[in-house]
Amino acid sequence: MIYVSRVFNFSAGPSTLPLPVLDKVKEELINYNNSGMSVLELSHRSFEFEEIINGCEMLLRDIMNIPSNYRVLFLQGGASSQFSMVPLNLFSTYKRALYVDTGTWSDKAISEAKKYGNVEIIASSKDKKYNYIPRFDLNNYDSNVDYLHITTNNTIEGTVYDYIPETNGFPLVADMSSDILSKQYDVSKFGLIYAGAQKNLGPAGLTVVIIKEELIGNELEICPTMLSYKTHSKANSLYNTPPTFSIYVTKLVLEWINSLGGISEIEKMNIKKANNFYSYLDNSNLFSSPIQKEFRSLMNMPFTTENEDMDKEFLSLANNLGFKNLEGHRSVGGLRASIYNAMPIEGVNDLIQLMSDFENKTLGR
Ligand SMILES: Cc1ncc(COP(=O)(O)O)c(C=O)c1O
Repeated sequence: MIYVSRVFNFSAGPSTLPLPVLDKVKEELINYNNSGMSVLELSHRSFEFEEIINGCEMLLRDIMNIPSNYRVLFLQGGASSQFSMVPLNLFSTYKRALYVDTGTWSDKAISEAKKYGNVEIIASSKDKKYNYIPRFDLNNYDSNVDYLHITTNNTIEGTVYDYIPETNGFPLVADMSSDILSKQYDVSKFGLIYAGAQKNLGPAGLTVVIIKEELIGNELEICPTMLSYKTHSKANSLYNTPPTFSIYVTKLVLEWINSLGGISEIEKMNIKKANNFYSYLDNSNLFSSPIQKEFRSLMNMPFTTENEDMDKEFLSLANNLGFKNLEGHRSVGGLRASIYNAMPIEGVNDLIQLMSDFENKTLGR
């Protein structure tokens, strides 16, 4: 169905969802699968919901190729809760972890982890306003650490790891909130992956954790029951009421990904969208990207005219024409286009056209 009232929503999250998914939600909203109830009204212990949550897990396992010795948990509390859940559960032997500081979110993860054990920041890109991913050599560290934490994609700063670090046998933990499902990651390289759903997975309210079984069950004594991975793993994510609607919509998003050919196809589309955008920026005489080329995110693309008033003028024009949420994060300013899986290439190309027209007008061409 065509909805003329829809805009191109470049929000960093909650963000645009695939239209076929929203259509399906609309179609099923009042009477889910002939249950006579809305999916919003289904008990989380009902047969219908069990099918939804199991189906969601199976699809995610299939799409991400998650090995059988990993558990998938559907939790609440956002990725921000994982900043404490990770140390509370994984500080099991040495109470020591390595963290890489690549921006606002990793900084928050570091602050939380420091409450429960020793945190060593092994590299930081703060010196250049986080516009690159710093290098580090894990051979400089002994293996008496419980885990290494990275943020694969830095939503606010617009950087992404160009490789996955190999640890000396200890688990790699990744905050994958803003690039999960954007490209194929080898899950077996990670001990734990977590992501807030509200970007590539589905609506806000759900946090997905993918964790190697052997990391479950060694939580600190002070770990609250609700923050223990063991609690949720034992109960198949039904220890308490899970975010049922978000899980349902996430299942539909995963079906949509499959209908497009899975992650390999999604990745190709994301590369094409990002290439179009960055090649325009690199050839523009007005707009530019502050991010070093090899670390540029496929998902979150900061850009600027380097003139605050002009950025605002462009933002206002874009907003009036239906290109929404292009302002940079309040902590960094400038502009940012978040181009998640569900943003159609037309949205990116139309944005480029708008920027190009603005550039020509501004430079008097
Ligand atoms: C990389 C990253 N980590 C963590 C968060 C925090 O997520 P939440 O709002 O789900 O707690 C965000 C939110 O945008 C994010 O982008």
